[in-house]
Amino acid sequence: MGKESLTITDNRTGTSYEVPIEDGAISASAIRKIKTSDDDFGLLTYDPGLSATASVKSAITYIDGDAGILRYRGYPIDQLAAHSSYLETAYLIVKGELPDRQALEAWEHNITMHTMLHENLKKFMEGFRYDAHPMGILVGTVAALSTFYPDAKNIDDVESRRLQARRLIGKMPTIAAAAYRYSLGLPYVQPDNDLSYAGNFLSMLFKMTELKYVPNPVLERALDVLFILHADHEQNCSANAIRAVGSSRVDPYSATAAAAAALYGPLHGGANEAAVNMLKEIGSVEKIPQFIEKVKAGEGRLMGFGHRVYKNYDPRATIIKRIADGVFEETGKNSLIDIAVELERIALQDDYFIDRKLYPNVDFYSGIIYEAMGFPTAMFPVLFAIGRTSGWVAQWAENVIDEEQRIVRPRQLYLGADTRDFVPLTERPKPATRERKLLAGKML
Ligand code: CMC
Repeated sequence: MGKESLTITDNRTGTSYEVPIEDGAISASAIRKIKTSDDDFGLLTYDPGLSATASVKSAITYIDGDAGILRYRGYPIDQLAAHSSYLETAYLIVKGELPDRQALEAWEHNITMHTMLHENLKKFMEGFRYDAHPMGILVGTVAALSTFYPDAKNIDDVESRRLQARRLIGKMPTIAAAAYRYSLGLPYVQPDNDLSYAGNFLSMLFKMTELKYVPNPVLERALDVLFILHADHEQNCSANAIRAVGSSRVDPYSATAAAAAALYGPLHGGANEAAVNMLKEIGSVEKIPQFIEKVKAGEGRLMGFGHRVYKNYDPRATIIKRIADGVFEETGKNSLIDIAVELERIALQDDYFIDRKLYPNVDFYSGIIYEAMGFPTAMFPVLFAIGRTSGWVAQWAENVIDEEQRIVRPRQLYLGADTRDFVPLTERPKPATRERKLLAGKML
């Protein structure tokens, strides 16, 4: 075994640099030392989408994309999905270890004690239009929590961080359910502390005039497992967002709102909604080949397919496909499942998808289950956000105490105009037609 370092020779100057390799990475600041002269700024790495950059050292979630492995704090996702509850998994993710019975009971109690919303927060939510997307309501309302809990600014106080973590995990389902009830013009349902985390959420969504809502145990467990599967996924777009925004030392509610906003996009948590809309648009099994051809011609993407990290099957998709059977036994089969299964079969035999290692991801089948359970499509990313809150909290908290972290402030490669003198309006030449067209097509 050779030395754990790289030797880089700058061919511009002939100078060689020895750069240590630590944990399978080189430090980007070591590259900055590569200069052509003393006043040279130093070399930068260029990495759009940060696909070849590790921006943090983390002990929360491990993914081996080639092997299709996902573990939270070392525990394989299939074992957690089979044996754990969402709140127990949330404890594991946030605190680093599985709880003993007493710690689990205390944690469940503490989360349950934070499920209610301040009445003013409900009034705040009523300011949204009746047809507002629930994810927009969620993003805005989570940001508003920072004004209800100004103590959350004390991010250096561990007790304050713990309290905000409990509030966030406790209140997220209540906000989500309120957004749903509001969109239907239905009265809000108070949290029921006798029910499980998922059961209480179902109650807040679907309770009508009955005195006590009794969740269907199969659907309650399925939802709980879906929350487990979505709980964390290392440095994805929203985890990166909460870390980046949190690095300015803002309160965790503002940072979580940024994470939720990142999740909303169709390439991230909005993909489950987009996948179901896509299956509905395809409409029937016969139309799949035609749809695949359109995707291959660059006219849109196969939503719920592909992943930055998984280049093999997404292990969450395998578990979700299994849950689907149990859910359909209760709810009746969702007709979209036949289209999804056939679409997957055809895509996985097609060179376009094989060459690019595109497999179903977590969002391909989750939306079909959510729909069978009675959720409107607009609620799908909201369901993702509920499960992901424990992951966001853990990523944020890890960043806050990480002494190597600084405010996130990347560099850029400036390719714009060099310095030039201001030209008065009357003296400015008209841009050439081609230039004008280019600008009109791409610029704001
Ligand atoms: N359908 C068709 N082509 C695709 C797809 C897709 N879903 N995903 C990637 N490709 C193609 C892409 O066009 C490119 O082809 P080429 O090399 O010819 O230009 C190649 O595969 C690589 O794609 P990429 O965009 O460079 O890959 P990425 O790692 O930047 O993107 C992704 C990952 C998840 C954003 C992307 O696969 C995608 O847009 N998928 C659909 C949206 C989706 O399902 N998102 C949910 C992700 S899982 C839940 C979560 O964690 O958020």
